[in-house]
Order: sequence, then C-alpha cells, then structure tokens
Amino acid sequence: MSEQRARRAYVETYGCQMNISDGELMEGILEGRGYEIVDAPERADVVLVNTCAIREHAEQRVLGRVSQLNGLKRERPAMVLGVTGCMAQRMGRTLLEQAPYVDLVMGPDGYRTLPETLARLNGGVRAVPEAPATGAVPPTEAAPVSERSGRRGPQLAVLQLDMDENYQGLEQRRADGPSAWVPIQRGCDHRCTYCIVPYVRGGEKNRAAPEILSEVRELAERGVTEVTLLGQTVNSYVWSDVRFPSLLRDVARIDGIRRVRFTSPHPNDVTSELVEVMAEEPAVCEHLHLPAQAGNDRTLRRMLRRYTVESLLATIGRVRVAIPDIALSTDIIVAFPGETDAEFRDTLTLMRTVRFDEAYTYKFSARAGTPATRLPPDDFVDPDEAQARLQELIDVARGVQSEINRGEVGRIEEVLIEGEGRDAGQIRGRTRRNKVVVFDGDPSRVGSYTRTRLERTTGATFAGSELRVGPREPAAV
Ligand code: SAH
Ligand code: SF4
Ligand code: F3S
Repeated sequence: MSEQRARRAYVETYGCQMNISDGELMEGILEGRGYEIVDAPERADVVLVNTCAIREHAEQRVLGRVSQLNGLKRERPAMVLGVTGCMAQRMGRTLLEQAPYVDLVMGPDGYRTLPETLARLNGGVRAVPEAPATGAVPPTEAAPVSERSGRRGPQLAVLQLDMDENYQGLEQRRADGPSAWVPIQRGCDHRCTYCIVPYVRGGEKNRAAPEILSEVRELAERGVTEVTLLGQTVNSYVWSDVRFPSLLRDVARIDGIRRVRFTSPHPNDVTSELVEVMAEEPAVCEHLHLPAQAGNDRTLRRMLRRYTVESLLATIGRVRVAIPDIALSTDIIVAFPGETDAEFRDTLTLMRTVRFDEAYTYKFSARAGTPATRLPPDDFVDPDEAQARLQELIDVARGVQSEINRGEVGRIEEVLIEGEGRDAGQIRGRTRRNKVVVFDGDPSRVGSYTRTRLERTTGATFAGSELRVGPREPAAV
C-alpha cells in the first residue's frame, strides 16, 4: 500500500554550486523526515525542480523541463510537482498562474518547512512525521487556484526571504565521494546592477564558524578529502571576530583534508591576509576564481563592481607574486547596456594581459527588477552585435587557454580521481590547479590521489599518464 512505503522524492537542480548544494540540503531535510530519495522522476511521489534565475536562457530551459515533467503528472495525478530555488523566488505566483500544474513554488529560504508544506498539499504525500520541536511554522499561503486548470487541491507559495535562515542544524545529503561542497554564506550584500541574486537570495548571511569547522571535521572522518567553501562573495565571510582568511586556515588544517577550494570570491576582498593563507597552507589549492566581469573602468563603474582595471590588476599581481604557480579563472559579461565597441575591446585587452587559465563567458541578460534594466533603451546592445562580441571573447579566451595548457605539457601533477573518462578504460581527475586530466585506469580508483604526467592537451583538458613507482603500484603521494 502506498501509505506504508516511504514517500519518494526526486530533486533536479540547475544553476550554480550554491544551488546544487541547496538541492543536497533539500534531500537531507526530506530524508530526515522519512522520505526516500530516488534518482528518477518516474519513481517519485514528489518531484522538485530546483531552479536558477541568473539569465533568461537558464529560465527558459527550466520552464521547458517543468512542462515536460507535467507529462508524468498527467499519468500519475497524485504526483506533487514543485519548483524551488531562485527562479521560483523571482517568479512566485506568476509561475503558478503560467504553469497551473505546478503545486508549489518555494524560494531559497523556505526549505526548512519543506516537509510541512508538502503535507499541506493534496496528493499522495499527506502524512509526515511530527516536526522536530524547533521546527518553525511554515510561512505558507495558499495562492489563488487557477480556474482553467481544473485543479483539485491548493497551490502553495513559500516566498519569504528570511535574514535569520542559514539552515543551521540541518544536514545536507551528500553523495559518497572524496569531495564535498560546504556553504558558509548565503545571499549577497552587493548590488551589481545586472545581477538578480541579491533579490532572490536576500542579503549576506554567514554561518557560525564552529558549525562549519565541525561539519568539515565530520566530512573528513567520513573520508572526504577535498572541500569547497561556498558563498556568493565567499571571501567577505565574517562571523563574530572570525574573518574568511582565518576560517580558511582552520579548515585547511583539519586532519584528513588535503584540498581546500572556495568560490566565488569578490576581487575587493582578496586581502593580503587571504593571499598569505593561500600561499602558506599546503591544503589550499593553487587556483583562484576571480570574476572580473569586464575590462573597462566605465563599464565596471556602471556595473557597480567597485573596483577598477588597475586595482584588479594589482590584486592579481599580489596573488601571483605570493603564489607563482596559481591558476586563475574568471567570469566575463559582454554587451552590458551602453558598452561601446572600444570598451568591449578593453575587455579583450584584459584577457590578453591577465591570461586567465579559464573564462566563463556570458552575454548580458536583462533581469526584471535589476538596475541595469532601467538604463536608456537605446543603450541595449543589438543581439547580433552581442553575439559577435561573445564569440570574439570566447575565441580570445580559448586561444589563451590553449597556449597556457600547451606550455604545461610535460608537468607532473597530483590528481584526485573523480570519475570515469568518456572512453572505456579511462578515468578522469583534477589537478590542484583545477585542470582536468584523463588517463588509463580502473574506475575503482575514484576518490584516490595519484601522480600523472600531462602528455597532451586538447586546449581545455589534458591527456595524461599515471606515474608508477613499481611495475604495478601507483605512486603514493
Ligand atoms: N556571486 C558570484 C556570481 C554569481 S552569478 C560573483 O559575484 O562572482 C555567476 C556569474 O553569472 C557572474 O559572475 C556573472 O558573470 C554572470 N551573470 C550574472 N548576472 C548576469 C546577467 N544578468 N547576464 C549575464 N550574465 C550574468
Ligand atoms: Fe551578483 Fe554581484 Fe552579488 Fe555576485 S557580488 S552575486 S554578481 S550582486
Ligand atoms: Fe542561479 Fe541562484 Fe545560483 S540565480 S547562479 S542558482 S544563486
């Protein structure tokens, strides 16, 4: 009988690492309340699509997916279909109206109440165990039921942003493996004029340092050797008198942790103290993601990034002096409203000057409610022109990347084996500098460290060969 088996939930996540980590949090919350987490929507009583709102394209894709999942719901009307995350927060009730088959929209600060909220919905998931004594009352409201949809039950919207919600005391459900993401901060206090994040995730909230450290200790005891600390401006973290550099140092010194990464730092908070910790702590990886966004001062000012090209270059200079082997990656937006061709060329110059190992490149996407959408309509860059700029940027970024990587062929690098390669008999790992290496090996080795020689590069990734100490044994590192 369906009442007696565990209710089954499936969570499908889009967007950044923070959102993926939130997906694990939702799974943890549901599992803690008796749900079985399954890996296919076909097998689930509750299907949650955990969404991203950063660019319009990301939202369009997800809306398509939600409508596809409605196909499953038609076959099984008791299935609950929920949309969570940043797009749910941004669209709110509009989403319930546009997609009347969606039962629930829940923003990023509502997950603690997920079990109770699901219990309030009609469908096959009515009974949930009692909330723990500390459980907050769900701030749910029944949204208007669409007449056309012929719905039987309510649609619910949980959209309050809560300055106190940092999910203290709740556990993420993490897949077994050597690596774990550890959110240390939620929300963002910046107001970059193109960006929706502060509106859908609220202001910056930092977790208590002792809680973060005990979580990492527990992860290490369970065999995790690599952690990535997460936050929208992760290096602005502050709790009590603990600032990011000292937290990073403490995490790096936890027994069993061999690699520590963090993302995304804001260039303005790359302090000399942080650079010192990065240089001194052996576990902190030689990789820094430094989102530049543009290479022109007027554009940076209008983006409200609060730094100049000169100060950014000075920051990068300090990092490179202290950690000569550091690999740098970045995010760049082209065609911000009002960006002239000459200003765009300054961004290309920045790319050629800094020589990032990797660049994530985007066309500006107008997000309703953000200040950039209020710039004069004439400032908006023609879509064909925007596409041409993006292509030119990609070409420059790839050219630089491939030159850098060709220069690295022959290096010997420690690799953490993360999974299988595309071809049979191959495995894939990552160097401390965040470069992907594929080499011959058995998938049973996933999670272990080895040393490889970088033999060839495709431009972006490497083909390597494993170094062996004896005829059979992989070299211990
Ligand atoms: N908090 C992170 C970024 C989060 S969003 C940080 O500050 O680095 C990830 C990236 O998406 C941003 O760095 C930016 O390059 C890009 N992005 C954000 N909003 C965008 C928009 N409206 N259009 C295009 N790209 C955008
Ligand atoms: Fe968005 Fe800027 Fe905050 Fe990053 S720092 S999340 S780009 S507002
Ligand atoms: Fe997207 Fe939200 Fe992350 S908008 S990039 S999922 S914080």
